[in-house]
Amino acid sequence: MSSKPTIIDCDPGTDDAIALWLALGAPELDLRLVTVAGGNVGLAGTTANARAVVGLSGRKVPVVAGAERSLLAPFRAETAVHGEDGLGGVVLPEGPPLTPGTAADAIRAELRAAAPRSVTVIGLGPATNLALAFTTEPALVDRVTELVLMTGAWSEGNITPAAEFNAWNDPEALHILLNLGLKPVLATLDLTAQAFVTPDLVARLSQAAGGACWKAALDILRALPSSKRFGHRGFPLHDPCAVAWAIDSDLFGSRDAFCQVELAPGPSRGRTVIDRWERLGQPPNIRLMETLDAAAFFALLEERISRLP
Ligand code: RIB
Ligand code: CA
Repeated sequence: MSSKPTIIDCDPGTDDAIALWLALGAPELDLRLVTVAGGNVGLAGTTANARAVVGLSGRKVPVVAGAERSLLAPFRAETAVHGEDGLGGVVLPEGPPLTPGTAADAIRAELRAAAPRSVTVIGLGPATNLALAFTTEPALVDRVTELVLMTGAWSEGNITPAAEFNAWNDPEALHILLNLGLKPVLATLDLTAQAFVTPDLVARLSQAAGGACWKAALDILRALPSSKRFGHRGFPLHDPCAVAWAIDSDLFGSRDAFCQVELAPGPSRGRTVIDRWERLGQPPNIRLMETLDAAAFFALLEERISRLP
């Protein structure tokens, strides 16, 4: 099986950490580069967490820091969910140093060296770094075989009633990615709600043996606060859904759809208006992940991460 050259942009972040370990443990993906933006916590925290997560896996994948804030929007972290440290208080050994440079330049260099339509790009945080890379060098779009984003919602948001956190933190960046002609694959809150983690599930997953990465992933799942949006029954696991698509898209039901992100100031800013029923007569510009085989998803998570050191 040939593995897919892959770039992940992220803002670790508890669910980003689990998504990174899923990618690092998946032979289907050849993770070439991890880039980091401010998001769940500030950039100093997200870069330290990305270094530690990659370092714990023992894999030599470059980690490059990028945008500290959004293109235009005011930056806001989400420490209420991820903790002040961004990993729910789970302490990891310090990882290797950052690779010098900036995220957008590193993404461009990786794409420039790649064959046409060969690189899978996965965005797990505010899309600032990806937008900067493709705005600086639009021709590099033709090196991308698939752009997968955890972003948006067709129903209610999480950071505001209208908007999902990544889209809300940098809606201009998401607007740029929606208009590259790439037809990004979106894992929205409506999809990630199906990757629902309960205490019983964590207890079941804890039966599986594994190394330090698996143990740390379980510690993170135990540390995550239950979600008010879901009646405190548990919480949705967002970012690993985007990585799981790149590993095995057969886990998902999906359809083409049209998506536009609201940029105007006000309570709807950052909302992704997603037309699943062709009501607006606009050509589809996204592939929308709609359904998830949750049992197979969590089995994939367990199998791929527990094989890491
Ligand atoms: O809204 C959920 C998304 O925002 C996830 O990517 C989470 O890590 C945060 O970045
Ligand atoms: Ca994230």
